[in-house]
Parts: sequence; structure tokens; C-alpha cells
Amino acid sequence: MKILVIGSGGREHALVKALKRSASVTSVTCATGNAGISKDAPCIALSGNAAIVDYCKKHAIDLVVVGPEQPLVDGLADDLRAANIPVFGPSAKGAQLEASKDFTKKLCDKYNIPTARYATFDNRTAAFEYIYEHGAPIVIKADGLAAGKGVTVAMKPKEAVDAIDDCFDGAFGEAGARVVIEEFMEGEEASFFAICDGKTATLFASAQDHKRVGDGDTGPNTGGMGTYSPTPIMTKEMNASVMKEIIEPTMKGLIADGIPYVGVLFAGLMLTKDGPKLIEYNSRFGDPETQVMLNRFKGDLAALLLSCAKGSIDTKHLSFTSDVAICVVMAAKGYPAEYEKGTIIRGLEEAAQVEGVSILHAGTAEKDGEMVANGGRVLNIIASASTIAEARARAYDAIAKIDWPKGFCRKDIAWRALK
Ligand code: AMP
Ligand code: GLY
Repeated sequence: MKILVIGSGGREHALVKALKRSASVTSVTCATGNAGISKDAPCIALSGNAAIVDYCKKHAIDLVVVGPEQPLVDGLADDLRAANIPVFGPSAKGAQLEASKDFTKKLCDKYNIPTARYATFDNRTAAFEYIYEHGAPIVIKADGLAAGKGVTVAMKPKEAVDAIDDCFDGAFGEAGARVVIEEFMEGEEASFFAICDGKTATLFASAQDHKRVGDGDTGPNTGGMGTYSPTPIMTKEMNASVMKEIIEPTMKGLIADGIPYVGVLFAGLMLTKDGPKLIEYNSRFGDPETQVMLNRFKGDLAALLLSCAKGSIDTKHLSFTSDVAICVVMAAKGYPAEYEKGTIIRGLEEAAQVEGVSILHAGTAEKDGEMVANGGRVLNIIASASTIAEARARAYDAIAKIDWPKGFCRKDIAWRALK
């Protein structure tokens, strides 16, 4: 098979590597990729759905794997399917699960999927009244895609009012024109991944992410500063209960509503004392969850994803090692706020020599023969071992060998699993 991967971050680097390991694959190309991905696969620039469809026809691509949500929301999977090109990723309608929180909440209501109680508003007066009525803690969300920044967990009514103002004042553009207000849920969070073939959903794997920028889960939210998989809180029983109460009713509901969903259903879960509840859906693989899940994956990923794209999952390709994998994200100092680009990174070859360690690139470029930072989240240090403590020690050993004074990472990834 000839595969095209869409995207340019650490998730896509992990996908490229795992697809290359697949016995059924002859070549993998990535659009747009980055300097690190280009060491593993040719990287090309393609912009817009039409250019991607043309490229696939011209090069007889057998499967397109879409990493990020935006191309899905823009209908890339619809356009590929219309041209008879197999694609792993949902239609624009299916991607509404991520692109509109209101869409997902309505689906949850209609099909009895456990989630926080909510109300949706398109004007601030009614939203303020709801806050006066319900008080805090309470959660305010811009309805649309806001690059992970549209959610405020308000511990005081004043913070809720400010967050509502931000949304309606345009801080998130169109994404904030509608506001979803939710009941505050308490518990531990987990990232849960099912893969779907349009008819059925199958458990892929679970992981735990660290969304806050600082040690001890403090400071502002980010795209994710580190992950580990599997996570001890997602026991066999818990996985089965999430599949039965959340994933399967979602899949059935989507089908009943005329949306056969192909691709990843990524459920952000809150494990509350009343059982697992849905925080939100994403319509794609997680970043950096994919990096640890695929590190443990040992099936033929290309054959697995193609079987989903063709409407009938072949689970013989789905298997994982019993090892634990951890990912520590190295980011540019200042992230998630302002940061510098172009700072030099050295020592990557030496770091990658540490046993069990591999390095994926999330945002790098090459300049005058040097690897330089080219984004907020820049490197993913992945380590596997038979225990989480050992995997973590390996990851931080490798990080000690990386010479990048303008970078930083959290020092406590996987603390919950070790406590
Ligand atoms: P999201 O972007 O929807 O994943 O939300 C970002 C983070 O906000 C989540 O990872 C949770 O930590 C928190 N969050 C979102 N919704 C709720 C809720 N209803 N109750 C408590 N925390 C929440
Ligand atoms: N790590 C969370 C996400 O991919 O949205």
C-alpha cells in the first residue's frame, strides 16, 4: 500500500513510523510534515482538498490517514470518498462531534449518554442569568474549535461572567458566538480511543494526558505536555463500561441520524463517583496520546485502518505489547503563551541511544544544518519499559542529554500512576 498522512506534528510522526512498520506498506508520504518526519518519509506541501485529491489520484494512493481535526471539519474525507480514495477519518458531519460542543451535547441528550448537564446560549444576558441561578464552580465553553483554549473551569461566578464576556467579545472568533455552560464534574480524567468503520466501534487503547503546563498539574491549559499508556485507572471493567455506556450509544445515535462514522472516536472522560462521563469528543487521534499508544502497537496499522476505511474492521491487526509507554513533551520556553522560534537543538542522536527511547518531532525545522525549534510543542521523548517507573526514568535520562537551553518540559509526567 501507498499511504498519505495529513498533518505536521508529533502525532503524525508517530503515525508515519507505525505505518512504515506495517507489513502491508510500501511507501508513506506526509503532507506537510516537519524536519523530523522528513527523516522517515518524504514530506510534501499540499494545500486544500482539491490538491490532496489530485495528488492521491496521480500517485495511486491506497489510503489517506488524516491527523488533525481542521481538514476533517473542512470536508477532506468527504472529498476523498467522493473520488473513491479510501480515507481513515470522519466526514465533515461526523467531525461536528469535535467542532461543535452543542452538537455533541444534543446527541448525548438524545441517546442517553452520560455527560455533564448543560445549556447553550447565543447571548450574554441569558448566559449571565444562568450563572446567577446556578453559581460556581461551573464550566464555560466556546461552542466551536478554539485550539484547546475555549474552556474555562470557573471556581467563582465572576470568572464565569468574564469567560462569557470573552466568548461574546470575540476572543475565540466565530467559535465563541455560541456558549455552552456545563455542570462542574469531579474525578480523574482519561483519554479513551475507539476506532470505527461506519457500523461498529472497537476499543483501541486508553491513555492519560497532562494538559496543564506546570508540574503538579498547575498553570494554563496546553495541547498536552505528556502522556502515558496504558493508564492503571482504565481497568478492563472500566473500558467495557465506557464502550457500553458511551461509545456504543454514540455510534448507534450517529448511524440513526444518518452519519456513519469512520475514524477515531476520542472520548475525553471524567471518571466520577457516579461512573465515567463524557467531557468532550474529538474526531481524531490525540496528540500526544497517539505517540504512546502507537509505541505499544504491534499489529499492521495500515491494514487495520484500511479495513475501517472500507467499512469492515479486521481486528486481527489490532494488538499491543504489554509494555508501558510514556511521552514527555519538550516545548519552547513561554509556551502556551509567546515563545521564540528558530532556537538550536543539539544532542538528539545521543538522547535517542538511551534504551527504550525514541524521539518524535512535533515542531522542528532544519536551518544551516542544525535542528531548530519551529513551534510551541517541539519534541516528544517517548520511552517504553515493563514498568511506568522504568519508562519514566529512561525518558528523563534521554532529556538530560538534549542540549536545548530555550526548551523546557514537565518533570512529573505520570505522577498519578506512580503515586
Ligand atoms: P476540553 O477542551 O473540553 O477537553 O476541556 C479542557 C479541560 O477542562 C478538560 O480536560 C477538563 O479538565 C476541564 N473540563 C471540561 N469540562 C469540564 C466539566 N464539565 N467539569 C470539570 N472539568 C471540565
Ligand atoms: N491531547 C489532547 C488532544 O489531542 O486534544
